[in-house]
Amino acid sequence: MINKRIVEKLGYIDEEVDVNLVESIRELKKSKNATILAHYYQNPEVQDIADFVGDSLALARIATTVKTNIIVFAGVKFMAETTKILNPSTKVLLPDLNAGCSLADSCKYDDFKLFISKYPNHKVVTYVNTTADIKTLSDICCTSSNAVNVVNSFSSDTPIIFAPDKNLGSYVKETTKRDNIVVWNGACHVHSQFSLDKILELKKLNPDAEIIAHPECPKPILIVSNFIGSTAQLIEYTKKSLSKKFIVVTELGVIHQMEKENSGKSFIVAPSECGCSDCSFMKMITLKKLYLTLKYELPEIVLPDDVIEKARLPIEKMISIK
Ligand code: 13P
Ligand code: SF4
Repeated sequence: MINKRIVEKLGYIDEEVDVNLVESIRELKKSKNATILAHYYQNPEVQDIADFVGDSLALARIATTVKTNIIVFAGVKFMAETTKILNPSTKVLLPDLNAGCSLADSCKYDDFKLFISKYPNHKVVTYVNTTADIKTLSDICCTSSNAVNVVNSFSSDTPIIFAPDKNLGSYVKETTKRDNIVVWNGACHVHSQFSLDKILELKKLNPDAEIIAHPECPKPILIVSNFIGSTAQLIEYTKKSLSKKFIVVTELGVIHQMEKENSGKSFIVAPSECGCSDCSFMKMITLKKLYLTLKYELPEIVLPDDVIEKARLPIEKMISIK
């Protein structure tokens, strides 16, 4: 017997399993009428069993079209919460509730409320990598793939608060050529650790390789990059580019799709200061946890109705912008 309270406290189901995980997940998905959505940073075997794999914007959009009774989100908590907000009547499951995000952790509700109060008349743009309650304080959310367009949806004289990623914020500020953007001081523990020196050493050894980076990377890395984009945009770029080799400066899970979509091209994981170019939160989702989540329909994402109601509008505005 599974104790729901223990699962909620632990964040995942801890049980020995002795089944073929891939087959059992496929059977449960069918019998329970469930859809699995997976982010590009998931382990390859998790991406391969998902119904849809995408970046955070694409997954939010897909979530609005899913008709099954259950959505299992193979990603981090803020993404599963976004799915729940967009589909309040669907059961949304996250195989491990501990799958957080250092950016979401860097922006707490009370601190952010105080911060906003210091900048009256500013529109609040929040990167979707935030908790649901931060979204209730936002005018509009964005992802890394539409952040520039979201900011440009406001007239150039509208002052803006951008949170929580300082690197994406400074990239947006520069790209939109606006000096009226106040940026919150948060960073991702993966992207802020990439080493410029080691990337440049790698480039010397591979002069034919293009450097491609996610905009959560610090500015010195973006300056030396040939292309900057969200995970989906980086994958698209590798398909269009004539280069045969890429130094990829983002979480290493994305390389799985790059390799699948580009035979004959090679991808080098950019080195980081700590030797950790994978997101420990994303990698908390395993096939075993996916299987147990489908079997017991736990842990479930539950949000207060008023949070869903207030957070929905900024997310809906986000998905309406290219
Ligand atoms: P994408 O917007 O590219 O999906 O990235 C999400 C993320 O968490 C990057 O660290
Ligand atoms: Fe959050 Fe960074 Fe992990 Fe993306 S890679 S989910 S920003 S901790």
